[in-house]
Amino acid sequence: MSLVDSERRVLSGMRPTGPLHLGHYHGVLKSWTQLQHNYQCFFCIADWHALSVDQRVGAQLGDAVLDVALDWLAAGVSPSSATLFVQSQVPEHAELHLLLSMACPVDWLQRLPSCPPTEALTYGRLGYPLLQAADILLYRAGLVPVGGEQLAHVAFARDLAQRFNQHYGCEPDFEAKAEAAILKLGKKTAALYRRLRSAYQVEGDDEALDTARALLKEQQAITLGDRERLFGYLEGGARVLLPEPQALIGDALRLPGLDGQAMSRIAGNAIFLSDSPAQVEEKIQRIAVNTDASGSGEACPVWQLRQAYASVLNGDAVAPDCRADGGDCQGCKAALIEAINAGLAPLQARGAEYRENPLLVQRILADGAERARSEARDTLVDVRQALGLNYR
Ligand code: TRP
Repeated sequence: MSLVDSERRVLSGMRPTGPLHLGHYHGVLKSWTQLQHNYQCFFCIADWHALSVDQRVGAQLGDAVLDVALDWLAAGVSPSSATLFVQSQVPEHAELHLLLSMACPVDWLQRLPSCPPTEALTYGRLGYPLLQAADILLYRAGLVPVGGEQLAHVAFARDLAQRFNQHYGCEPDFEAKAEAAILKLGKKTAALYRRLRSAYQVEGDDEALDTARALLKEQQAITLGDRERLFGYLEGGARVLLPEPQALIGDALRLPGLDGQAMSRIAGNAIFLSDSPAQVEEKIQRIAVNTDASGSGEACPVWQLRQAYASVLNGDAVAPDCRADGGDCQGCKAALIEAINAGLAPLQARGAEYRENPLLVQRILADGAERARSEARDTLVDVRQALGLNYR
């Protein structure tokens, strides 16, 4: 069985559905650019997911994939730190999706809030969260940085991993190996481990389970394999085949759009990462200002965006109250335009270099797919073996 430290593995993805906007950047992408320095990061352009939602997307899919890659690169996702790849270039996602489907109750999928009504439901669309689970579990990623709306999908992947592990996670001689691993913890820790394990297994003490997991995380001296065995042994008699992922929700900034509602491409209220300074200016100038009775500006989309920007750029800073700046709406808009354009300038400079060099972007994605495949194949060797598919 191959070993990875899932606590240090990050996977996330986006569907190629159009240009990315400031909401994507401040909500998710910025956190990716920070994580990539401390974790082994895999970022997946989920083109099969796009097809599962809209089969007509086909003709424009290639351009959309390239646009997402360009936006990621412009935002600072770095191909030398992270692995960027296109889902369909790693066909192992499809194999794991199929194998997971054997253990996935249909009603788990139907119960998810994102499941469309039956009339509109294709087999592929029903399996959307299952494919997403395969994306995550294929890399044995412990952390999944996403927007809050994806929480249910990550929780689903976690439940499915647990179920899969319960069905298939057995290793021959597992118990003997786990017992041997306990001895390697040292006398005191071993005794504590045994106490916590039995408090959980015999008395159902969930806190003991958490404590024991924390204890294992601290152990430096044991091998990764033993650590995984001891994790599995806490809960039952199996080694962890597919580690359970956790969502990593950023500071949950919901950036307001030009109309004060959450920024979204479909709502037509977005400022795109690729918008030129003139386009930004034009969009902000078009906002209808709204000064409510209080005169504070809080009901005004311009003020709301300034507020969000002030907190993004300067921690807890607060945008000036309209009363304090004398209700100078033009000045207020000018300050916002300047802040947005200043924020976008470095992204656009970086983006331009890649945009002029599409071959480089293709090479980055091809390299990424190669790296991703090699990790994916390792996981599948273990999964195939666990399912009894290792005759060859
Ligand atoms: N469903 C995600 C979205 O719409 C995209 C996605 C696909 C994803 N695969 C993933 C996100 C794996 C996180 C992990 O945004």
